[in-house]
Amino acid sequence: MRIYKTEDYKKMSKKAARIIASQIIMKPNCVLGLATGSTPIGLYKYLVKWYQKGELDFSEVVSVNLDEYKGLPKSNDQSYDYFMRDNLFGLVNIDAANTYLPDGLAEDSDLECERYERLIRSLGGVDLQLLGMGHNGHIGFNEPGDAFDLATHCVDLQPSTIEANKRFFASADDVPKQAYSMGIGTIMKAKKILLIVSGEDKAETLKKALHGPITPKLPASVLQLHPDVTVVGDAAAFSKM
Ligand code: GLP
Repeated sequence: MRIYKTEDYKKMSKKAARIIASQIIMKPNCVLGLATGSTPIGLYKYLVKWYQKGELDFSEVVSVNLDEYKGLPKSNDQSYDYFMRDNLFGLVNIDAANTYLPDGLAEDSDLECERYERLIRSLGGVDLQLLGMGHNGHIGFNEPGDAFDLATHCVDLQPSTIEANKRFFASADDVPKQAYSMGIGTIMKAKKILLIVSGEDKAETLKKALHGPITPKLPASVLQLHPDVTVVGDAAAFSKM
């Protein structure tokens, strides 16, 4: 595991963006696993800036996102589909046909999960998977539990996750109660993983994830078992280590 500690959020974003840019330069038709949440927003801004300067070309890049709320149409500005178009896809020359997310409106949840797994396999797997981390250590929407979930599945969101995400909605009642998420097994199959963490409020969880026991009670701890993980965090996120 490679660990980079940066001074602040801006430097964390730049460092992580450089890692993603390097991946694109090394393999222009790479498959990027992408994430949402507030943590990657700064990183996406750097990628957009470098694209605008002519330093990055997304024309052959393929992307698969970690997760999507169940029940939200793509047109809802809180859907992860909307987020990705707003923060990255609509601002660079990625081919929209090469950007994939679970379909929040799929009629049959099981079929949708199977379809998404098959899709990732058919793309040849993920070259570089970007991850943020929830306060309870969730990655994607893999909530703390008694077992590591394996493949893409439909998740019941925990009250703490609904609480954390309600800031984006009119009220907690408007936050969807379920989501589709790549499973831990899907995430662990990525060739490389890049975890970004910012803020003191995640410092204790980050310490446990990197140095504590590997347990489904703290999903991010599973990353200790992956052969190629890079963690980029700001000083606040590392303040408990
Ligand atoms: C959501 C997303 C995760 C993300 C997490 C943390 O639950 N499903 O992928 O990592 O939030 O979000 P933030 O970066 O806003 O703290």
